[in-house]
Amino acid sequence: MSVPASRLPGFYQLPLLERRRLLAERFGLSATDLDALEGAGGLHSAAADTMVENAVGVLGLPLGLALNFVVDGLPVLVPMAVEEPSVVAACSHLARLAADGGGFTTSADPPFLVGQVQILDVPDTARAMAALRERHAVLVSGANAFCPGLVERGGGVVDVRARVLPQLAVGPHADLDGGGDMLVVHVVVHTCDAMGANAVNTVVEGVAPVLAELCGGRSRLRILTNLADERKARARMRVPWTSLGDDAESGRAVAQGIVEAYRFAARDPYRACTHNKGIMNGIDAVAVATGNDWRALEAGAHAYAARAGRYTSLSRFWNDDGAQTLVGEIELPMAVGVVGGSTRAHPTIQVTRKLLGPFAESVERLAGLFAAVGLAQNAAALKALATEGIQRGHMRLHARKAGEPSSHGAAAPSAGVRA
Ligand code: MEV
Repeated sequence: MSVPASRLPGFYQLPLLERRRLLAERFGLSATDLDALEGAGGLHSAAADTMVENAVGVLGLPLGLALNFVVDGLPVLVPMAVEEPSVVAACSHLARLAADGGGFTTSADPPFLVGQVQILDVPDTARAMAALRERHAVLVSGANAFCPGLVERGGGVVDVRARVLPQLAVGPHADLDGGGDMLVVHVVVHTCDAMGANAVNTVVEGVAPVLAELCGGRSRLRILTNLADERKARARMRVPWTSLGDDAESGRAVAQGIVEAYRFAARDPYRACTHNKGIMNGIDAVAVATGNDWRALEAGAHAYAARAGRYTSLSRFWNDDGAQTLVGEIELPMAVGVVGGSTRAHPTIQVTRKLLGPFAESVERLAGLFAAVGLAQNAAALKALATEGIQRGHMRLHARKAGEPSSHGAAAPSAGVRA
C-alpha cells in the first residue's frame, strides 16, 4: 500500500520551526502566512476589536496538525486548535490505522439550515397549517426576497413547513407551560458555502409578519435551530485487525474492546455524554482552527444524540469477522461553512484553509472531514480506554510539560504520538 501524503514520518520529532519550514515548502506558504502561525502575527487586537464588544485583547491556543488522514481518497493534514494534550496525537494515530483500511469515506447532506418562527395565539391551528400549505409557493418566493445573495448563488429558501407544539401536560415544564397550542414554522434555507446563521435569521425575521398574519396569530421568536438534522455528515472507516495488534488475533481483542466500549455508550447516557465529548474533542478543535462555530456544532450534536428520546452514542462500532476489520461509523448534524464567520478576519484561519486545500472549498467535503475527525478521535479514546487506560499516556505528557527528561517516544500518549 502506498504511503499517503498526509503521513509525515518523524514530523513530531522536528523542532517547531522545522515543522513550519516543511509546511511552507509543501503548501507554498509565504512569510506572512508563517507569521500568522505565531501569536503576534495572528489575530491582532485591532481585528479583535471589530469582532466582539469590549475587546481587551486576544487569547492564543496551540495549533497542531493531525496527520495520516485519508478522506474520500484524498490525503489531508488536519489543523486542530486545542489546549488538551493527546488530542492531536490520538487523532493522528487512529487516522493512521484507518488509512490501513483505505481511510475514511464520508457523505454530507446539502447545506440546509432551518429557521424557526414561533407563532402564538393561533385560533385554529389546523386551518393555519392548511393555509400555510396552500400558500407554500408564494411563501417560498416571498422568503427568498430576504436572501437575494443566496438565490443568486443557487441557494435560498427551499421549503416552508409547520408543526404544532401542544401545551405540555407532563414533565419538568408542565407546571409553567401555558397559552394552549403553539405553531412553529420551519423555513428551510440552502445556505451555499456558508454556515448560514445570519442569512437564516434575516429570512425568518423578514417573513415572520406574513406568517403570523396568515395564521391569525402573533410571532415571537425568529431564529435558526442548531439541531441541523437536515444537514448531517457521515463518516465510516474500516480498521484491519492486524493494524490494531501484533497479529489478527491480538488486533481482534483490541477491536472487541472498542466494540464493548461503544455498547456501554449506546446503553447509558452517563457514558454516552463522555463518549460524545471525545468525539467533540476532535470536531471542536478543527472547528476552532477553521473559524467555524463550535458552539453550534456542540449544540447540534448533543441534541441529535437525544433524538430517540434517550441520549446515546453518536457513533457505532462493530466487527466484520469476514473481512477481519473493525468498522466504525458516525452521523451527526454538521453546520459548517467555508466562507463567512471569522474566516476572513483571522489571518491564521487563512493559513489553515490553505492547508486544507479542496476541503476548504466545499461545505460538503469539509462537513465530511469534520465527521471523520470526530470518528477518529472517538475511536482513539475508546482504544486507549479499552486497553491500557487513558491515564498512563496523560501522565507521560504531564511529565513532559513539567520539563522532566523524556524522549519523544516516552512522551507519547498511549494513543500514539508517533504518527
Ligand atoms: C477526554 O477529553 C475524552 C475522553 O473522556 C473520551 C471518552 O471517554 O471516550 C477520553
